[in-house]
Amino acid sequence: MSAVSLSSPGVQALLVEARSRTDAVVAPLLERVDPEAAGVLAYQWGWRGTRGELVAGGGRGKAVRAALVFAAARATGDGPGSEDDPLVRAGAAAVEVLHTLSLLHDDVMDGDALRRGRPAAWKVFGADVVESAVRALTPDALELAFRDVLGVSGRPGIAPPRLAGAARATGLLGDALVRLAQGQALDLALEEEARCDTATILRVHADKTGSLFACACALGAAPEAAGDLAVFGENLGIAFQIVDDVLGLWGDPAVMGKPAGADLTARKKSYPVAVALSGEGTRHDVAGTGRLRELYARPEPWTLEQAGEVRRLLDGSGARGVAEAAARAHERRALDALARACPPSRKAGDDLRALAAFVTGRAY
Ligand code: IPE
Ligand code: MG
Ligand code: MG
Repeated sequence: MSAVSLSSPGVQALLVEARSRTDAVVAPLLERVDPEAAGVLAYQWGWRGTRGELVAGGGRGKAVRAALVFAAARATGDGPGSEDDPLVRAGAAAVEVLHTLSLLHDDVMDGDALRRGRPAAWKVFGADVVESAVRALTPDALELAFRDVLGVSGRPGIAPPRLAGAARATGLLGDALVRLAQGQALDLALEEEARCDTATILRVHADKTGSLFACACALGAAPEAAGDLAVFGENLGIAFQIVDDVLGLWGDPAVMGKPAGADLTARKKSYPVAVALSGEGTRHDVAGTGRLRELYARPEPWTLEQAGEVRRLLDGSGARGVAEAAARAHERRALDALARACPPSRKAGDDLRALAAFVTGRAY
């Protein structure tokens, strides 16, 4: 789920623009892939409903990652219009498609039945169909960076700098995909562990979320700014994911589009849970931490009463405040990296700063 609170009209305009530019690349993709896979993607993209009917605005993501690509291009690129570079557009679409595929798979992995207020795709199509759609479409997503720049891959006569740019983009996307898969695997494996520290959770967050945020920023950035913007994206992604963890435990289900508490019963080792299990909460008490560890060490599912006790122990541990402070610290690191590439005195970075404030919610 995403962390949304403050949203200036400026941010909304960035997101709307990113969506429509991304849509323009994804619509033709749906035409050329296997129809069953296309149906799954069109559902998750918010274009189709549970019966395959066309819908307007249902379940659509916010296109934050695509907006980061365009904003990074505007902030560091070669003058106005940098975001119109076909490679930037293709990269933005590729990042959004990869993200969408990762969510399709994530809901199967997490057993979550709702996403953005609608049935999760696996509840509509079945987990097998969703998994094969993800498998089938992943290479298409990676290929976008080449196909939409070159027209037809490998066409002779393409200028070498364009080829190099497309190859670099595909490499960035591939690296992010590998990290995302590693982060997701570790996230799932940790459900079975009784204990977990915050360093391990930060690795999960960096890999499962920081990776694609970093990739988005690097894809849009001018080459000399790509390193700093990748650090910006990586830390922003970590901050975003910590906020997501906090919302997963204490957020409003109406805003989240899914029930709160699913992460708790699945024994997800989210950032606040890791804080409480390590006894790092600000209101840490030894007996409470001991009891929490004991409950997480039980192999059998918790009774309702035990789940309630876990929640009370988490509430009382002060882990929420520690997690919120960690999110702020990562947001600060992100902004420091951005300031190196693009000082606050230069207006060019303002869209990236606004997007950073948006995704971390600032309401914590
Ligand atoms: C999923 O992570 C995001 C991915 C990197 C695929 P979570 O499982 O923590 O996120 P939500 O809450 O289901 O969106
Ligand atoms: Mg999930
Ligand atoms: Mg997950």
